[in-house]
Amino acid sequence: MKIAASIDDLRKIAKRRVPRAFFDYADSGSYSEQTLRANRADLEALILKQRVLVDVSARDLSTTVLGKKLAAPLILAPVGLLGMQHGDGEILAARAANEAGIPFTLSTMSIGSIEHVAEATGKPFWFQLYVIKDRDFSKQLMDRALKAQVDTLVLTVDLQVLGQRHRDVHNGLTVPPEFRIANVIDIATKPAWAWSVLNAKSWTFGNIAGHVPGMESVNSLSGWTQQQFDPALNWKDVEWIKKYWPGKLVIKGILDVDDARRAVELGADGIVVSNHGGRQLDGTSSSIRMLPRVVEAVGKQTEILFDGGIRTGADIERALALGARAVMIGRAYAWGLGALGGPGVAKAIDILKKELSVTMALTGVAKVSEIDGRVIETGR
Ligand code: GLV
Repeated sequence: MKIAASIDDLRKIAKRRVPRAFFDYADSGSYSEQTLRANRADLEALILKQRVLVDVSARDLSTTVLGKKLAAPLILAPVGLLGMQHGDGEILAARAANEAGIPFTLSTMSIGSIEHVAEATGKPFWFQLYVIKDRDFSKQLMDRALKAQVDTLVLTVDLQVLGQRHRDVHNGLTVPPEFRIANVIDIATKPAWAWSVLNAKSWTFGNIAGHVPGMESVNSLSGWTQQQFDPALNWKDVEWIKKYWPGKLVIKGILDVDDARRAVELGADGIVVSNHGGRQLDGTSSSIRMLPRVVEAVGKQTEILFDGGIRTGADIERALALGARAVMIGRAYAWGLGALGGPGVAKAIDILKKELSVTMALTGVAKVSEIDGRVIETGR
């Protein structure tokens, strides 16, 4: 393939360039991947209405999220192990997001650290927090984030325990990769990847290594998660985080109307309607199916973001039509990164922006702020 024309093309290239364990880590959903598939199927089932002869010569993709202007209704979601899709992946993605005028969210489980990203970009970014059993460590992470100019904290609440991704078990996913025969052969056929990772600032979990024992290398990511993540996490923890964190707080992983109401009562500035990209509770509803109910319940009180299956500009318009203010993408840019490094992230963003612009035009909408339920076919 000479030129990547779509997010699917980027995925194909990433599959060739990234060692299997890391490609599969991002690509997988949990268990039988029912929810992973539902995220896509339910988006595609929303039929867009073709409208003609509307002046769409001046299209405006910009919007405002949490008081800040974004060039497009798009945010780079937190993705664990991004620096294993390409060396310094977090830094490259943050730079691409800055250049595109959209936010980048750094994962707690990143390879590059909060400090690496801050130093390399010098710009505010978003930070995603996992609360582990040692609450002091969460405080330290928030302190480090604040010092690094993080303005928005994204608290992920749908991973108290880990949903198993079978491919991670089969591949024996470790960070850094273990030098088992299969891995050595795999990596030897991916020299560009190996070079980028060997020259990166970090090869292990940058936010955690040196702070939490045993994190220099993790021979079982799922084992570590099970040990450290706190199944006792509850709404009281959200209360103390809200008190402790002075910036904006976004709660990610809300799929239920009552949970959405509770998040708003506790002062969330935003929520992400999300099932963790089909990586956690397999068999639960697609994110898009729950979006309208959450919007109806709390859409006037908080900003509603959306993720789960966004692969095209048409998908972005569908989510906005159902009431999301902006969407987060995860795999779409992780594939771009794995395929082509920093320019691949820029490419993924560009593909989605252009597709959204064309979709808007052909549905007769000039401005992102004008996208609403009227662009969806209701059968009437
Ligand atoms: C972590 O957030 C994961 O989904 O693996």
